[in-house]
This record gives sequence, C-alpha cells and structure tokens, in this order.
Amino acid sequence: MVVVKSNNYKFITAKPFAPNLGAEIYGVDLSIPVPDEQFVEVQQAFLDYQVLFFKDQNVIPPEQHVLFGKRFGPLHAHPAAPTMKGQPEIFEIHATKDSKIANGEFWHSDVSCDEEPPLGTMLQIQIAPPCGGDTMFSNMYMAYDNLSKPLKSLVEGLTALHSSEHIYKGRYSDRGKSDQEIHCPEAVHPVVRTHPKTGRKALFINRTFTTRINELSESESDSVLEMLFKHAEHLDYQIRFRWSLNDMAFWDNRCCMHRAIWDYWPEERKGRRVTIKGERPV
Ligand code: SIN
Repeated sequence: MVVVKSNNYKFITAKPFAPNLGAEIYGVDLSIPVPDEQFVEVQQAFLDYQVLFFKDQNVIPPEQHVLFGKRFGPLHAHPAAPTMKGQPEIFEIHATKDSKIANGEFWHSDVSCDEEPPLGTMLQIQIAPPCGGDTMFSNMYMAYDNLSKPLKSLVEGLTALHSSEHIYKGRYSDRGKSDQEIHCPEAVHPVVRTHPKTGRKALFINRTFTTRINELSESESDSVLEMLFKHAEHLDYQIRFRWSLNDMAFWDNRCCMHRAIWDYWPEERKGRRVTIKGERPV
C-alpha cells in the first residue's frame, strides 16, 4: 500500500481519510507505551482531523489502552454500560446473534447527557463481522459553519436538554446491568459549543440524547430540533469507516457525532472502549 505523507508530522504518518473529516494514522504501535514525540503529534492530529483511525494494530492490552487514554486526561465512567471484567475503565461493546440492541445505533455524541460529557473516545474492534459493522462520523464544525446567518444567530442563543432515561433504562439488562445499578443523567448544554482547544464553534445536538430546546415552546422545539438533526446528519459532513481487525478509532465528541451500523446480525462484533472525561460545554 502506498502511504501518502500528507503533512508535516515527523514521527507519525497521517493520511487524510476524506476531505471533510478523519485521518488514518500509521507508524504508531498502541500495544506498547507511545513515545512522547509521537504522542505530541497524535494530540495535534486529533485536533486537526477530529477522528483518528490507528491502522495496523495488534490487540492492545487493556492496561495499555487505559494508560494511553489517561495521557489525554482523567477517564470518564459510563453511567450505565457494562465494563470489562477486572477493568472498570473499559466499556465492552458487544453484539451477537442474541443481542437486543447494538451500541450506538443512532447519531450521537457519547454520553452528551452528562454535565461534563466525554472529550473523546478510543475504540478498538477485536472481533469484526465478515462484512458490515461500519461506523459513521459527522463533522459538527461543518454543520455549524454551513448554517445560514439567520439560523446561526437563532441557535447561538439557545440551550438544550440532553436526557438519557429513554436510552439507558433496560438497555443493558441482558448484559448483567439492572436498572438499579445504573444512573440516567440529564444536563443542559448550549446548542453551539466552542471547542476548548481549537476555538472553533460546533453544533452540539444529537438525535439520541437531545430532547428539548429550553427557550422554545414544545412544538417549536420539536420542529427546530428535527431541522437541526437533519442538517447535522447531512451527507456532506459524513464519513463511513470500514474497520479492519484491531483498528483503533479515536474520536472527538466535542466536534463530531457518530453512529454504528448494525447490519451484520447474526454475526458478532466486539470491541473495547476507553472514554476520556471532558469539560462542561460552553
Ligand atoms: C459507540 O461507541 O457509540 C459505538 C461505536 C461503534 O460500535 O462503532
């Protein structure tokens, strides 16, 4: 395979995935500690491309996955999802022929219902179906930038409620997590947030968790949210990633949404996910 070196990184290779979003990262072995000079460039690439796909990986030992996540900040504890045995910081994504649901089937930014939603998520897929099981990502900077001026001024003054009871209640009961053990947070966030590192504005609503715009009547809120969901899910902002075994994706929840496609039933798909704590959106 010809790898195009597309930029000024010296210690990693970042190959843009598509003009609108994402980069494939080569030359970084995540199964061992990442040297500082590579880590600095990975941090920069994360801000430049919003979603990184680390290619040619081995299975990342759970301890190593956790340590790599912690280099970006303290880890986020999921309020409801089952964790890996002996590794409470790892959320196992798992869909089989017996699953009632697969994780992340509708557009969302991870756990946006938290007061301080996760900054980023690192998912390695370790059992992949023979085909299918892609993940889609959508660029929320572009979604904001492409709003017309009148809509920009409307949404910039708005806040929205992000709820989770309708998502998490009963969701993981077949994976050993009863409703008594889980927590269903809700939080109010601005509809447009400013990324703390890049200073860019991004639309911050999603079909999974965002249930109400506070400053509007219920019917206005329903209509405006539906319009914003459709806008944010426009094909122009999207990419669709086809996983190879052991690829690891690392996405920025502050400026992207994603959606996992469950088109592979009855085949199995399994992965490990580490999530990094974020700050309150402003
Ligand atoms: C998720 O974390 O939302 C699931 C992503 C995936 O399984 O591809």
